[in-house]
Amino acid sequence: MKKIVLAGGSGFLGQVLARHFNEKGWDAVILTRGDDPKFAEGRPVQWDGETIGPWTSELNEADVLVNLCGKSVNCRYRRRNREAILQSRIRPTRVLAKSLRELENPPSVWLNASSATIYRHSFDTPMDETDGELGHGFSVEICRAWEDAFFEAELPATRRIALRTSMVLGHGNNSVFPILARIARCGMGGKLSHGNQMTSWIHERDFARAIEFAIDDEDIAGPLNLTAPAPVTNSVFMKTLRQSLRIPFGLPHIKPMLEIAAWIMRTETELTLKSRFAIPAKLLSHRFVFNYPFLDEAFENLTRRTPSQELPTEPALTLPRL
Ligand SMILES: NC(=O)c1ccc[n+]([C@@H]2O[C@H](COP(=O)([O-])OP(=O)(O)OC[C@H]3O[C@@H](n4cnc5c(N)ncnc54)[C@H](OP(=O)(O)O)[C@@H]3O)[C@@H](O)[C@H]2O)c1
Repeated sequence: MKKIVLAGGSGFLGQVLARHFNEKGWDAVILTRGDDPKFAEGRPVQWDGETIGPWTSELNEADVLVNLCGKSVNCRYRRRNREAILQSRIRPTRVLAKSLRELENPPSVWLNASSATIYRHSFDTPMDETDGELGHGFSVEICRAWEDAFFEAELPATRRIALRTSMVLGHGNNSVFPILARIARCGMGGKLSHGNQMTSWIHERDFARAIEFAIDDEDIAGPLNLTAPAPVTNSVFMKTLRQSLRIPFGLPHIKPMLEIAAWIMRTETELTLKSRFAIPAKLLSHRFVFNYPFLDEAFENLTRRTPSQELPTEPALTLPRL
């Protein structure tokens, strides 16, 4: 039986992956700080995300390590939150690197979360892994420090992949899709500000399939954009969501309104107003085929099934229309 260790696997993306690999007969281990884990998928093993402990034995002879740890960025970027966002990513990454250095048989592949927000604010230039320009500002600095911590250690036996993931659309807790769907159903699902900001996204099913693909393809290493090949403007994103929900209209949100709403909801407008224009050049050049390359198909799938409904094991393949 193959074994995958998911650090921070109790959250949205970890549960998507645990389910995907469990369905394939893998042993999925979740490293969690919780002492009473309530998540559905995976075998919980306790750790503190900071220090070496008995949990490291789970990594010896595991096939794959995926690290998804990180405090949610959906909060006000005050000094204390900024520090917590940074440390909750750097510390688990460093302690995992330290543990791999000490193991006799470390996993041959380690995939570490990062984010497509590492690229600059771009309206017209798509950002790929080779020519994409890194941006500036708090979120970008977090991603840079995160990737630096990931690649700094000498780990000759382990191939490393930094997952520059865009917004993952799925049903799980902490996913943005159920929140957006609720807003749209209330008639509030219009464009945000001018609506020209680009939105990169990926369906949860393709997120898991792309990770499996990267594990299997030994030539994939370094940064990897996990995002669908057809990003859209925010205006098209919200319109496509409304169409899939059969909602005829959505009130647009002007920028000052968004600032007030973000303050009330204890979040930041950067999450919705930054133009994220990442494309999956590396995945496509390695011939990965997306099941959901287009947003209308992704939303149709998500709105037509409830969270508890099983995803088909092998949905029909659709070739990207690029
Ligand atoms: N969801 C997306 O669309 C998306 C897009 C791009 C990048 N990402 C990144 O991908 C990662 C996973 O995303 P997600 O949506 O699954 O997040 P999530 O649901 O918030 O899960 C993250 C997990 O990290 C663990 N964690 C939090 N603070 C920690 C700390 N200080 N030390 C150790 N572990 C800690 C928690 O596990 P325990 O409490 O069980 O220990 C939590 O379940 C995050 O780093 C996120 O920034 C997500």
